Amino acid sequence: AQAVKIKEGVHWVGALDWTLRDFHGYTTERGSSYNAYLIIDEKITLIDSVKHYCIDEMLDRIKSVIDPSKIDYLVCNHVEMDHSGALPKLKELAPNAEIICSPNGEKNLTAHYKQNWKFKVVKSGDSVSIGRRSLKFVLTPMVHWPDNMVTYCPEDKILYSNDAFGQHLSSSQRFDDEFALDIIIEEAKKYYANIVLPYGNQVKKALEDLSGIDIGIIAPSHGIIWRSSISVILDQYKKWSANQTEKEAVIAFDSMWGSTEKIAGAVARAFEEKGYIYKLYDLKSSHISDIITDVLTAKYICVGSPTLNSSLLPTVAGFLAYLKGLAPKNRHALAFGSYGWGGQSIIAVETWLHDCGFVMLPNISVKFIPDHEQLLAITKNLVKQID
Ligand code: FEO
Repeated sequence: AQAVKIKEGVHWVGALDWTLRDFHGYTTERGSSYNAYLIIDEKITLIDSVKHYCIDEMLDRIKSVIDPSKIDYLVCNHVEMDHSGALPKLKELAPNAEIICSPNGEKNLTAHYKQNWKFKVVKSGDSVSIGRRSLKFVLTPMVHWPDNMVTYCPEDKILYSNDAFGQHLSSSQRFDDEFALDIIIEEAKKYYANIVLPYGNQVKKALEDLSGIDIGIIAPSHGIIWRSSISVILDQYKKWSANQTEKEAVIAFDSMWGSTEKIAGAVARAFEEKGYIYKLYDLKSSHISDIITDVLTAKYICVGSPTLNSSLLPTVAGFLAYLKGLAPKNRHALAFGSYGWGGQSIIAVETWLHDCGFVMLPNISVKFIPDHEQLLAITKNLVKQID
């Protein structure tokens, strides 16, 4: 494996995880990459590293440029193990290398690896000279963990943004102008929705902190590097972090005998009549991480479950728990379902959605099988209530 030159003296030395299909519960149909960047200057610097099982690929790429024992600085923008997993081995190979990280980075790296490493702890605005270049650090707590920071090199105009602006996407191409932009944006949206969504306020703060800097390249820790469409991804992050929604609706349900599915269809027809972009997801066959991608920009979230054993179906409960954790804001929601005698599922779904802070539409519940007239009435009533 070879290093890929990003700019004179700057090399991508990461690893491609082509076969990864799950990233802590998020489906990664296009695999992922862990991006590490090697800067050759008076101080040899490695920015971030890779998952522990990818270390040999990273070392091969580093060795195609320089002996890893010559590394002086290991910048750790984020402690999560997809970026720090290779640090223990790297420290064995380069025992004198100093780890540059945030105060929480030092705390959390020590908690993770229980080693007596030498740290250079930095705070927002600090700068470290590595020779011809300098590295400036901006702490970005909760994008994605309390320890996160980004590293900016003013001489190269490169922002090493770690998780921010990343995508789970494995590719032999490294840059945004070498790969289909709509796929990169789709994966960046899925990444934001499933990883970054709860931290919108912190993203806004980070975007403000970074607004004055001249960015020529955004080098994230996952996926494709941005150099031609920087304003596109920055605009998307501004929109997503502001919880701005579109005229879109997501309808997610599970069904036992097809009745809740029929109600879902009647709900969908109401959004169709109102000119919404809508998507219908059966939770038996759709993954919650794909549904959340659409939730990111949807104004309406409609969730349906029939009643099973005085409760809701486990597929629906799993989706609701995931949705609540990711905490999208400024949404409208609807609970619906069919029941035989108790009807507790519709109330349970409604309670979950209400607890998410959504503005609720009156729920829709139907005893046993909805007939044609009932379905028409559901659509007609809903059309009146949708904005
Ligand atoms: Fe890619 Fe939060 O780690």
